Amino acid sequence: MIIDVVTIFPKMFSPVLDESIINRAQDKGLVKINIHNLRDFASEPHKKVDAPSCGGGGMVFKPDPLFGAVESILGYEVYPEKKKDENKRIILLSPQGKTLSQKRVKKFLNLERLILLAPRYEGVDERVRCDLAEEEISLGDYILSGGELASMVFIDCLCRLIPGVVSDKESIKRESFEGQGLDFPHYTKPVDFRGLKVPEVLLSGNHGKIETWRKRQALETTKKRRPDLLK
Ligand SMILES: C[S@@+](CC[C@H](N)C(=O)[O-])C[C@H]1O[C@@H](n2cnc3c(N)ncnc32)[C@H](O)[C@@H]1O
Repeated sequence: MIIDVVTIFPKMFSPVLDESIINRAQDKGLVKINIHNLRDFASEPHKKVDAPSCGGGGMVFKPDPLFGAVESILGYEVYPEKKKDENKRIILLSPQGKTLSQKRVKKFLNLERLILLAPRYEGVDERVRCDLAEEEISLGDYILSGGELASMVFIDCLCRLIPGVVSDKESIKRESFEGQGLDFPHYTKPVDFRGLKVPEVLLSGNHGKIETWRKRQALETTKKRRPDLLK
């Protein structure tokens, strides 16, 4: 899979993308992430990517650099020529989009190319939302200063689901939101920490009993914290 991100802050990405699981995914050749500086697609002499909102208000990302960036990445014009390519998706990070969930992330796994648009300020000119973006993704009902962190969150949850990225496939299947609810409680060494003990059953070596305990605990945790997941 190829992921392209269009941003005015390319330097924000390497501390996250060049570490841990996302870095491993790139090293293994399972994902290629390209960060594009939107200013490279803005016109001389000032390379301006934003302008005041028509009618008054804050600054808004102009349509021409964003259309230009996407068309340069894809190698063809996307408007007015509406070329359909089912293997790619142009995604706008936006608080007005559909909320990101484990289920929604999985929808993107079969695609070959994702282009993420990460604006700032008041967001994008409406023509970008309507005629360039094919999907809008939100992290939740709150406002971030820009789409960069939202893009990185999206990339992180996507990459760990690409087969081969996380070596223990089973651990992914047991995670919260994968099955019926939340994950079971985990304990590690020491078995006795200041009198707080690891449950006996987890030290018993009896895999059947451990599995039953974990399932019951996961169900109890879900009932208590997220009963909505059990509906
Ligand atoms: C300050 S916000 C603009 C908010 C916009 N004026 C509104 O009220 O809907 C700037 C950018 O941050 C990103 N952003 C902010 N909150 C977000 C969220 N919850 N999910 C995804 N992206 C978000 C979007 O890319 C947005 O265009």
